[in-house]
Amino acid sequence: GFFRTLWRVTYISVLGGLGYLAYTIYEVRSPTEQIEPDPSKKTLVILGTGWGSVSLLKNLDTENYNVIVVSPRNFFLFTPLLPSCTTGYIEHRSIMEPIRNILRHKKASVRFYEAEATKIDYQNKKIQVKDDSDVKGDSMETEIDFDMLVVGVGAENATFGIPGVREHSCFLKEVGDAQKIRKKIMDCVETALFKGQSEEEVKRLLHMVVVGGGPTGVEFAGELQDFFQEDLLKWVPQVKDHFRVTLVEALPNVLPSFSKQLIDYTESSFKEEHIDIRTKTMVKNVTDKTIEAQVTLPDGTKKTEIIPYGLLVWATGNAVRPVVKDLMAQIPAQKDERRGLKVNEYLVVKGTENIWAVGDCAIANYAPTAQVAAQEGAFLARLFNTMAKTDAMETELRELSERQATAKVDERNEILSLINERQKQLRRTKQVGPFQYSHQGSLAYIGAEKAVADVSWFSGNIASGGTMTYLFWKSAYLSMCFSSRNRVLVLMDWMKSRIFGRDVSRE
Ligand code: FAD
Ligand code: NAI
Repeated sequence: GFFRTLWRVTYISVLGGLGYLAYTIYEVRSPTEQIEPDPSKKTLVILGTGWGSVSLLKNLDTENYNVIVVSPRNFFLFTPLLPSCTTGYIEHRSIMEPIRNILRHKKASVRFYEAEATKIDYQNKKIQVKDDSDVKGDSMETEIDFDMLVVGVGAENATFGIPGVREHSCFLKEVGDAQKIRKKIMDCVETALFKGQSEEEVKRLLHMVVVGGGPTGVEFAGELQDFFQEDLLKWVPQVKDHFRVTLVEALPNVLPSFSKQLIDYTESSFKEEHIDIRTKTMVKNVTDKTIEAQVTLPDGTKKTEIIPYGLLVWATGNAVRPVVKDLMAQIPAQKDERRGLKVNEYLVVKGTENIWAVGDCAIANYAPTAQVAAQEGAFLARLFNTMAKTDAMETELRELSERQATAKVDERNEILSLINERQKQLRRTKQVGPFQYSHQGSLAYIGAEKAVADVSWFSGNIASGGTMTYLFWKSAYLSMCFSSRNRVLVLMDWMKSRIFGRDVSRE
C-alpha cells in the first residue's frame, strides 16, 4: 500500500529529474544559429564578466544592440563557493562558467574581447583596452567606441596602504587566489616537517592567520579548520599540536553585518572548533614572516604585538579600481564620492547620460554583494530591452504621422486609430520603475558543518545557525550555481571529498 505508492512517487520523481537534466544538457550542448550583430544599431559595451555583467547578459535581448563585452577573465565565477576551493573541497573549475558558452546561447551574437579596460574616455565615448594575457599577438591594445556603456568591473582588494600586504599575503577574490592559498597551505605543512626544523619555526609555519572578520575571512577560517580536522590530521598527524587558525579583526566583533545573535553563535562555534578569534586587533604592518598588530586591551590601552605566521590571508574588504577612479575624476558630479561610481535609481552614473554601473563598483546604498549585483544586472537588462522597444515604437509613430499627413481621407482615420493604439502601448512600455533591491537574506558557512543565516521571511527576519542551516546553505548555493553543469560538478566534488577526503598534493 503506502510503501508501494512512495516507491512509485520516488521512481517517477527520479526519472523526471534525470529526464530534465538530460534535456538541459542537450539544450546547452546544441546552440542554434545566431543573428549577426547589426552595426547600425547602438553599440552597447559591457565591462566585466562578474555577477552584475553576466546577469545583465543573461537577460538582455542582444538583437536590439551591437553588444561588445570586455573582461580580462573569459568566465563567470560563482564566488560564494570560492572559499571551499582553497582546501580542495571543491575544484575551482566546478564553479566557473565559460563566457563563450553563455554568449553562444544569445539570439544575436555578441563580441567578446579578453582584455582589461585601462581607460574610459567619457567625453569621446571611447574605451582603451589592453590584452595582458601570457600569449602576445601583434595587436594587444586598441580603442572601442561606445554609444552606451555598462561598468561592471567589481572592486579590488583593500589594503589601506598597509606596508607589506601586497608582497606577503594572499587575497581571496579570484580563482588564482584560491589556487595560491591551496598550494601554500601544503607548502607550509611540508616545510614545517622538513628535517631539522626548530619547534619555534614549526609553530610559525603552521600558524594560519586570516586578517578581516567579514564573511570572506570567517568562511575561509571555517573551511581551513575543517581541512585540518577532517583530512590533514589523518594524512599528516605530525601537525596535530602546532596547526592553528587565527582570525584577526580590528572591530570588537566578527561579521558586523549579521545580527547580534548570529555573531555570538559564530564566536562560540569558533571557540569549539579551536579557531582563535582576535578582535580589537588592527594589523598595521606585514613582513614576510610576521604581522604587527595594535591590540586594544579591555582597559582601553593599546599595545603592539608581533604575530608570526606561515600563511597570511588578507580579507579586509573592497577598494575602488584605478579605471573607475580615473572615470570618477572626469565627471564633476562624482568629485565628492570616494567609494565608487555614484548612480541614480536607474543605475545611471550620476553626471552622465550614457553610462550605467552595476555591482561592487556602483554606489547605490546597498552592500557590495553578489545578490545586489545580480539584481542590478537583471534590472538593466529589463531597462535596455524596454528602451529598444520604445525606440522602435517611436520610429514607427513618426512614420505613421508622416503617412497620415499625406494619406487620403478614408485612410487617415484608420492610421489615426493605429497611432492612438501605438501611443497607448508606448506609454505602457515606458513605465519601467526605478531599481528596487529585494533582500533575500545573508548566509555564511562557519565551519564544522554549521552555517549562519539572516533570512527575510514574509515581513519578518529569521536568524538561525547550526547544522540545519548548513543543509539550507548547501542547497541554496547549489540551486544558485550558474548552470546544471556547475551544479553536477559541485555535487560530485562534495561526494568525492566525502568519500576519499581532500587531496593533500601540493599543486
Ligand atoms: P565581480 O563579480 O568581481 O566581477 C568583476 C568583473 O570585472 C570580473 O569579471 C573581472 O575580471 C572584470 N574586470 C576587472 N577589472 C576590469 C577592467 N579593468 N576592465 C574590464 N573588466 C574588468 N556575495 C553574496 O551575496 N553572497 C555570498 O555568499 C558571497 N560570497 C563571496 C565569497 C567571496 C570569497 C568573495 C570574494 C565575495 C563574495 N560575495 C558574496 C561578494 C560578491 O562576490 C561580489 O559582491 C560580486 O562578485 C560583485 O559582482 P560584480 O559584478 O560587481 O564584480
Ligand atoms: P568586509 O568589508 O565585509 O570585512 C572586512 C573586515 O576587515 C571588517 O570587519 C574590518 O573591520 C576588518 N579590517 C579592516 N582592516 C583591518 C586591519 N587592518 N586589521 C584587522 N581587521 C581589519 O569584507 P569581506 O569579508 O571581504 O566582504 C566583502 C563583501 O562581500 C561584503 O559586502 C560581504 O557581505 C560580501 N560577502 C558576502 C559573503 C556571504 O554572504 N556569505 C561571503 C563573502 C563576502
